[in-house]
Amino acid sequence: MMMMSFTNTTSTSASSSQLASSQRITMRGGQASNNLVKMRAQHAFARENRRHASSLVVCAGTGKFVVGGNWKCNGTKDSIDKLCASLNSGKITADVEVICAPPMVYIDRVQSKLKAPYQIAAQNCWVSKGGAFTGEVSAEMLKDANIPWVILGHSERRSLCGETNEFVGLKTKYALDTGVKVVACIGESLAQREAGDTLNVCFAQLKAIVDCVTEKDWENIIIAYEPVWAIGTGKVATPDQAQEVHAGVRKWMSENVSPDVASKVRIQYGGSVNAGNCDELATKPDIDGFLVGGASLDGEAFVKICNSAAHSK
Ligand code: PGA
Repeated sequence: MMMMSFTNTTSTSASSSQLASSQRITMRGGQASNNLVKMRAQHAFARENRRHASSLVVCAGTGKFVVGGNWKCNGTKDSIDKLCASLNSGKITADVEVICAPPMVYIDRVQSKLKAPYQIAAQNCWVSKGGAFTGEVSAEMLKDANIPWVILGHSERRSLCGETNEFVGLKTKYALDTGVKVVACIGESLAQREAGDTLNVCFAQLKAIVDCVTEKDWENIIIAYEPVWAIGTGKVATPDQAQEVHAGVRKWMSENVSPDVASKVRIQYGGSVNAGNCDELATKPDIDGFLVGGASLDGEAFVKICNSAAHSK
């Protein structure tokens, strides 16, 4: 496990002034100005990264590599049967835990088809006991249906369904208390990243969970760091960008929960992970796995991503 320290103050002020000047440029209007804004933001960002990279002493996680496949709202009976067959015929040779999250309506079907080592997750569940909540699925139902995991706080649910940090915290606690393990997603938008707020956004999202759960609950939580700008865009975070945030998250966990939890909690990276970029990302000491969207719909690619665990340090 690598311990790390940051000097955050200078980077934040540099980014704020960068943002202020970006706003001035935007006000002058036009496509050229927009491009200039983007370029300047990228340069500020690169400067910030270099400063952080040189001031980081990191400490790697100690948990088993874990890869999740988030199938989102995709598939038909036919395509899902083919995907299950492809996953079952792939050879997972690395030491890795694998969790697939099919759409709710197909979970039963997938559960009856996928063989070990594949485990199943739901993509969401309700914040409290079931009842008059049309369209929702309760944690009790997941438990009853032998679904061991649930993904909570995915950025698509935060942005499209209005889930707040506090709501995600409450959902996490309720699922855990019901006996369902949680993949808890965090991550910043592009605007937040360009404003230098990446870590603060992630910490606020984590704090809302920490405020609801006990130290022991962390045995059953995986953190998925998924920068919103990298999700489904083909624009993957560089291994250094991902490592930097993972290390920051682990340090925050060490200071705000405990060093023991910080070293054991698994932090997945998610956002445009594919068969071509997974091996390099997996070498980063604080990346303990992946949460994969698009590429998890391709059995062969997903098996390759699972096997990238062999490159983990
Ligand atoms: P992506 O999605 O791999 O398609 O970028 C990741 C996710 O949303 O979990």
